[in-house]
Amino acid sequence: MREQLEKLQRDAEEELLGARTDEAIQAIRTKYLGRKGALTSILRGLGSVAPEERPAMGQLANQVKEALSQRIDAVLEGIAVSKKDSRLLQERVDVTLPGRGFARGTLHPITQVTQEICGIFAALGFAIAEGPEVELDYYNFEALNMAKDHPSRDMQATFYITENLLLRTHTSPVQVRVMEKQKPPVRVIAPGKVYRPDADISHSPMFHQIEGLYVDRGVTFADLKGTLTFFLKHVFGDEIGVRFRPSFFPFTEPSAEVDIQCVMCRGKGCRVCGQSGWLEILGSGMVDPEVFKAVGYDSEEYTGFAFGLGVERIAMLRYGISDIRLFTENDRRFLEQF
Ligand code: DAH
Repeated sequence: MREQLEKLQRDAEEELLGARTDEAIQAIRTKYLGRKGALTSILRGLGSVAPEERPAMGQLANQVKEALSQRIDAVLEGIAVSKKDSRLLQERVDVTLPGRGFARGTLHPITQVTQEICGIFAALGFAIAEGPEVELDYYNFEALNMAKDHPSRDMQATFYITENLLLRTHTSPVQVRVMEKQKPPVRVIAPGKVYRPDADISHSPMFHQIEGLYVDRGVTFADLKGTLTFFLKHVFGDEIGVRFRPSFFPFTEPSAEVDIQCVMCRGKGCRVCGQSGWLEILGSGMVDPEVFKAVGYDSEEYTGFAFGLGVERIAMLRYGISDIRLFTENDRRFLEQF
């Protein structure tokens, strides 16, 4: 019986060496130490052992059982540890790897130019004003001294929604909305989208304007000239020539268009300026008393100047962009340059 027990221990230990999984090891435990296992069947022969040797055999059987049991537990433990090790190894994070950069957007060039222009006027004490893009005929035309049959309406081809509702053709209606709500002094700048049914390399059906309005006692044409000259030199550089040309707008009297020296040829004459050496850059004038009448201002007491400029045009001249459609095509190779 001693030999049987010792052989059982050797066999079991040898089998354990080949076992790799928890299931295989548990199977060995059942096979040798289980209720119907090998040890049990050896001990069934205890009755035929001489009585004086029985206690020693019992003791040996217990030792074998104990030793095997401990070995099995140790092997199981070893497998659990190496499983955990390999999992930790797999999950290892290399904290020294450099981070992945993510692409950042840039402000659209139209936004940048708008912000820059608004910044210059903000420094002069102008507040930002806004108005709706879907506008009433009254604000877009009527209150600006352009009655329904006024020939000036032809200057601004219009997207109509209904007879009295349209996409605003300019930012000038914001002037009227501001003056309706506020008494002088008024000093505002109104940036925004405007719409006209035009499309070619220098006209887009949607484009951006910035409107300016300054109303108070004693505002003169000299204020208009000084303010706009200051502004244009800020945007295009101190050396740029600026000239004021008599013009006509229904909502200003007198009116002036303002030109800057051609930024391409510096006044010599080229294709961009049509050989004139000058580029028209904005419309302006002294607010017409008819407009003051529409908003309930006393034109005997107050005077004011107004102006309107196209943001795309300024951005195109500033950056040498030849096609207005580039602004809305969303080609990142174009947009990322600004
Ligand atoms: N609203 C005019 C346009 O879109 C531009 C303009 C001219 C605005 C003279 C003004 C102004 O405020 O005084 O063509």
